[in-house]
Amino acid sequence: MTATEPLSSDSFPSEGAASSDYDFRAYANDPDRIADFSRSNEEMTSLISTVEDNADAIYTWRYDKGERAALDRLYEKAKTSQWNGQTDLDWSTDVDLDKVLAPADPAEVAYFAENPASPLHKLNEDEWHDVAIESMNWSLCQFLHGEQGALLCTAKIVETVPWIDAKYYAATQVVDEARHVEVFAQYLDQKLDGIKYPVNTHLEALLDDILEDSRWDMTYLGMQIMVEGLALAAFGFMHMTTEEPLLKKLLRYVMSDEARHVAFGVLSLQEVYQELTAAELRDRQEFAFEAALRMRDRFMRQEVWERMGVPVKDMVKYSLEMPDELRVFQKLLFSKIVPNCKKLGLLDAGDGWLRDRFTDIGVIEFEDWVDTGEEYADLDEVAKDREMAEG
Ligand SMILES: [Fe+2]
Ligand SMILES: [Fe+2]
Repeated sequence: MTATEPLSSDSFPSEGAASSDYDFRAYANDPDRIADFSRSNEEMTSLISTVEDNADAIYTWRYDKGERAALDRLYEKAKTSQWNGQTDLDWSTDVDLDKVLAPADPAEVAYFAENPASPLHKLNEDEWHDVAIESMNWSLCQFLHGEQGALLCTAKIVETVPWIDAKYYAATQVVDEARHVEVFAQYLDQKLDGIKYPVNTHLEALLDDILEDSRWDMTYLGMQIMVEGLALAAFGFMHMTTEEPLLKKLLRYVMSDEARHVAFGVLSLQEVYQELTAAELRDRQEFAFEAALRMRDRFMRQEVWERMGVPVKDMVKYSLEMPDELRVFQKLLFSKIVPNCKKLGLLDAGDGWLRDRFTDIGVIEFEDWVDTGEEYADLDEVAKDREMAEG
């Protein structure tokens, strides 16, 4: 399978096929599929790449601002919560690399270090430190590339969504995403060792799928619900664990925006999904599951292992075998996605197909966590800082 081959709806049986005979758990956890998909660090030679965006640009001649009140509130909020990456962050901060790195989870380190079957068995202390440094650069590079994906997706939503309130809001998100790309690129460039890693193949394939789909609600589902839902959780985790003040504030400000972005997805799709047939909903469920798998697979850090000379497939296998109680971080990544899918009715639509798949990959436990439809006001640190500054 190549990186460019589309997975959606062709890769496993869909509506009408004998999907009950298909072993989704085996498919989800197949190390060959996951490792073969990893792209070599050296393959990133071309400066640009293109994706077909198969969608019509749509005018609406109905200019009733506030027709969709929740989206209108979000738009007004977005306008007053803008920040400037150049002046609101202190780029003169002297970054201490050891403060940037999150302390590794001791139980997870023990799992990889102490078992003779582990590809990381016998790494010495310096090599573990190298893993931490590479992993940090890799994580921020993937955030950066994902942010560019979000920039393109929201520009597409401005064109394709038929509602004026949504076009207005999406336009503010385009600015937000430009700022996110800007600050992650600047942090990597000025404070770390530069942008060392290309986009992970699983992440790129997912972004391509989202951009290529002609149905406008799929851009929302893929980007706003899945990618940004995961990003919100991942940024939150890094924000919690890093002690480096510039990165901490950068992440906190980006999260203020991301919470609005996910809310935009939830508020818009709630309306659309009420009108869909069971077969159409099943398409969305499959799209969501494929996206979830690709995002889980992208966190296997294939490019880091390749750069460090660790056999990628062995690492994938070993990571997949990690006991459930150690997979705290991997699971937490889904803590926003699962409740948001539930709120949209996607978990239990039809015969509960997506509930079964989220059970297969071990993340169904988050279904009753808080969803992001209204959470954005609490997460708006930019507004809180402004209020404090104004006394
Ligand atoms: Fe973003
Ligand atoms: Fe975003």
